[in-house]
Amino acid sequence: MDLPAYADSSLTGGTAVPPPAPAGDTPAGAGLGAAGLVDVAAERDRTVGASRSHHLNSAGAALPTAAVVDAVVAHLRHEERAGGYEASAARGSDIEAVYAAAARVVGAVPEEIALLDSATTGLRVIIDAMRLGPAARILVSRSTYVSHALHLLSVAAQRGAELVIVPNGADGALDLVRLEELLAAGDGRDDVVCVAHVPTSSGLVEPAAAIGALTRGHGARYLLDATQSVGHLPVDVSEIGCDALVTTGRKFLRAPRGTGFAYVRRSLLGTLAPVAPDVRGAAWCAERDWDLAATARRFETWESSVAGRLGLGVALEELLARGIEGTAGHLVTVAAALRSGLAETGGVRVQDPVACASGIVTFTVDGLPAGEVSRRLAERNVRTVSVPASHAQWDLGSRGVPAVVRASVHVYNDAGDTRALLDEVAAIAGARG
Ligand SMILES: Cc1ncc(COP(=O)(O)O)c(C=O)c1O
Repeated sequence: MDLPAYADSSLTGGTAVPPPAPAGDTPAGAGLGAAGLVDVAAERDRTVGASRSHHLNSAGAALPTAAVVDAVVAHLRHEERAGGYEASAARGSDIEAVYAAAARVVGAVPEEIALLDSATTGLRVIIDAMRLGPAARILVSRSTYVSHALHLLSVAAQRGAELVIVPNGADGALDLVRLEELLAAGDGRDDVVCVAHVPTSSGLVEPAAAIGALTRGHGARYLLDATQSVGHLPVDVSEIGCDALVTTGRKFLRAPRGTGFAYVRRSLLGTLAPVAPDVRGAAWCAERDWDLAATARRFETWESSVAGRLGLGVALEELLARGIEGTAGHLVTVAAALRSGLAETGGVRVQDPVACASGIVTFTVDGLPAGEVSRRLAERNVRTVSVPASHAQWDLGSRGVPAVVRASVHVYNDAGDTRALLDEVAAIAGARG
């Protein structure tokens, strides 16, 4: 999560700071990226922001391509000329195509997709529709995102469900043995397992498919928060075995802010009635009766940013065209190089757990608060965020780490960007006393 309050980079603007050298001036800027899997130069060409800053904040909100922005702006212009309802009617088949693209990205079918404004909305409407009562147990990973944790804690407090925080193993990921013991001990209970595939607070990758095998084996429902993994790592709901998934547009999908989607397995849909049905997801068919949509659209609301959804559609198609395997390979390789560079820098501690094969790197600088490090980096046009323990109490809080600096890469990041981060962190760490 990436509020301006700690994402100081957004406060400094870009105007007073000279932009970094264009991609072509750096050896890895031209041609294929670190792992030879992505055409970084081409990605930079289609990404206006890539040459404006060293943007290492895709886990906050990644830089969109020009095509994504064009799709949004074109639709707003269409609304300006024709009216919002008329413009939307004219793009009916393109809007339907967004469901199909989202479904393809996560290995689902379009009927299992709901388009929403955020991952947090997705988690809330799905959990609320489960109507968890005193017989229910919510088993959560330490990686759980702040807003999700707050909602789950309030569900437990208000409805009497039990909330169990599953401990981590030695590699920093959820302890599968302990999860299995907990599930086995609770057989017959109404268990829901909620896990963040990749958290907000580190580069951890949870063993999502192994968790899915356990939840299936014990008849528990499994909600995966894939907000930090869709567009970043391969995510296939059948391989993972989750019953529901939520994600957002603005991060690794490179879509506009205020977009997101949820997947709900077809077999689960009929058991989930939204707490607040909306005209989009339900038909008011009689004086005191309503019918829910047969599809995951039962969780949607009538009002939405059509322009944003069309932008999301373009971003999803771009990901499908680029390929998730190459994207993931590139991100993981670049981040691993950053991690080792930071580990070799005096006064710097990499804070990622062992299980961190992702494009997110977290670190601290001895003697300097993470927010201050991130702010100084922003002054040098290197964009990171600091994530405080208040956004990850079950992770950073329990590790006794008050905050970390988070750098996260994407396909437009070249050697100039990673060099800038390493050089500036070294300068900040060297000057800290
Ligand atoms: C792991 C994780 N889950 C969920 C969210 C929330 O996403 P959204 O802001 O779309 O609700 C975030 C946002 O930072 C996150 O990092």
